[in-house]
Amino acid sequence: MSDSIQQKDTLTIYFVSKDGTKQEVKVPPGFTIMEAAKKFADTSIDEIPADCGGCQACGTCHINIKEDISRVGPAEHNSLETELMEMQPEYDRMYSRLACQVILRPEHNGLIVHLRDMENI
Ligand code: FES
Repeated sequence: MSDSIQQKDTLTIYFVSKDGTKQEVKVPPGFTIMEAAKKFADTSIDEIPADCGGCQACGTCHINIKEDISRVGPAEHNSLETELMEMQPEYDRMYSRLACQVILRPEHNGLIVHLRDMENI
């Protein structure tokens, strides 16, 4: 892929901390929200520890996608993803997702991702 094509296809997503701080991250499609937070953010986003590295085993990449959930889709009921999140503080049945389970596509450009309170991580 040439640089110009990669640049054109790059998505912008926004990570919003509990204090309202918004961090813009540019990421090519095909990566997960977790990878955007750990590999593409200027500084790794602490609110997404991602202890298992994306294996869907730790639940520490729990995020909330309030206003944009219709663009991403909710986690399936009775899935491993839901099981891991249900044990986490700030779990919301409608808006919680694991950042390592959401693969970014062009239609996700401009996505807003709400981060958890550091005290709950
Ligand atoms: S990084 Fe461990 S479940 Fe997502």
